[in-house]
Amino acid sequence: MLKYIIKGGKKLEGTVKISGSKNASLPIIAATILNTGKTTLYNVPNIHDTQIMFQILEILGGKVEKKNNKVIIDTSKINKYEIPENLMREMRSSVILAGSLIGKYKNATFSYPGGCDIGTRPIDLHLKGFEKLGVKITKNYGNITCTCDKIVGQKIELDFPSVGTTENIILASVFAEGITEINNAAREPEIIDLQNFLNRMGAKVEGAGSNQITIQGVKQLKDVSYNIMPDRIEAGTFLCGTAITGGNTRLEGINPKHLTPAIAKLEEAGCKIETGKSYIEINAPKKIKSLELKTMPYPGFPTDLQSVFIALLTIAKGTSLVIENIFESRYKFVPELIRMGAKITVEGRTAIIKGTRKLYGTNVKATDLRGGAAMIIAGLSAKGKTEVENIEYILRGYENFDKKLRDLGADIRLIKI
Ligand code: EPZ
Repeated sequence: MLKYIIKGGKKLEGTVKISGSKNASLPIIAATILNTGKTTLYNVPNIHDTQIMFQILEILGGKVEKKNNKVIIDTSKINKYEIPENLMREMRSSVILAGSLIGKYKNATFSYPGGCDIGTRPIDLHLKGFEKLGVKITKNYGNITCTCDKIVGQKIELDFPSVGTTENIILASVFAEGITEINNAAREPEIIDLQNFLNRMGAKVEGAGSNQITIQGVKQLKDVSYNIMPDRIEAGTFLCGTAITGGNTRLEGINPKHLTPAIAKLEEAGCKIETGKSYIEINAPKKIKSLELKTMPYPGFPTDLQSVFIALLTIAKGTSLVIENIFESRYKFVPELIRMGAKITVEGRTAIIKGTRKLYGTNVKATDLRGGAAMIIAGLSAKGKTEVENIEYILRGYENFDKKLRDLGADIRLIKI
């Protein structure tokens, strides 16, 4: 088992290069299945979740050659269409492979992803979208098989702007007969990255970033290379680390337009922020002011930054209010923050955070990926030593996290126990 040991009180100062986006990489890696050939991806984060996707591609018959953040994926010999249950359970977002397998091979079998640490995470909207496209879905003993003779483009209205559902319907529609139109589509920047990648390969996708996306079916795609967009959630995490330690950092290789709500909230909390085409500079005040924030689908405040903002607000001046509108149980990390002296009350989807002067280091556990990140943010500021266990969760989504923090002056080490 792995854990982080953090000695709090060091300001984060200096420059950090933001890695490629986990949530853009996963659907783009899935989309390589649509091309029978070789695809070269750059700026792919070397994290647990991308490694799982590569493992699955190889099990399906693909070949993956990794060199740091460059990956060459050969999908010309894919000949299996079943996502292994153990890997499906390990990473629910592998359901994104279903859209590509259905789009290319009209055949996909996978198990229910199973709930995870932040909610039941159903896939009903994914399945409804596939059915609308003419896919026959059979369920037996937790396994789902999707088959069809062909995909015919349709108008699909999403009940909720689900990111994964939007991505899966796009992938399943790339070779459809006719045009698929997705209404109430999710608008996240990662979907724009997926559209850009698909169109580079020769697909005809339009409208990503808006709530209406159209996909005109094409016959085939071609070998391309593509550079994955930067990770806005990693960037938001470093902004919170700087804010909670009263530091001053510069984030390189990030598009500030992807973080407008988070930047606005940090300015409201008293941080001075300057941005350019591909950087964000943050100068934190001595004392953070309290905030009210609610998570919303993009372009609203991102649910993935809710936990690290709550960690920041534990030492703000005054009482803060956070409402989590996307996932039904995304506060599992709160009891761990309370162990450090945080004063937080959770009522359903609402968290009330009463600012306290200081947090105190102690032994805590990561409860999930972003909840784990919140414990690191809290540990950076806490008096004394914080030991964070179960940090395998954090390694799912943050590349070289402790090294990047040490390079910014944090006293953090990774130890194996
Ligand atoms: C993506 O998850 C991200 N993951 C999540 O990031 C992110 O929190 C989420 O979008 C929202 O922005 C990846 O991109 C790999 P959704 P996804 O479908 O696609 C409900 C992280 O920390 N829903 O937009 O699973 C669902 O239960 C991860 O990097 C249904 O009810 O999110 C949730 O309440 C966590 N039925 C809401 O919609 C469905 O069929 C949003 O889910 C699908 C979703």
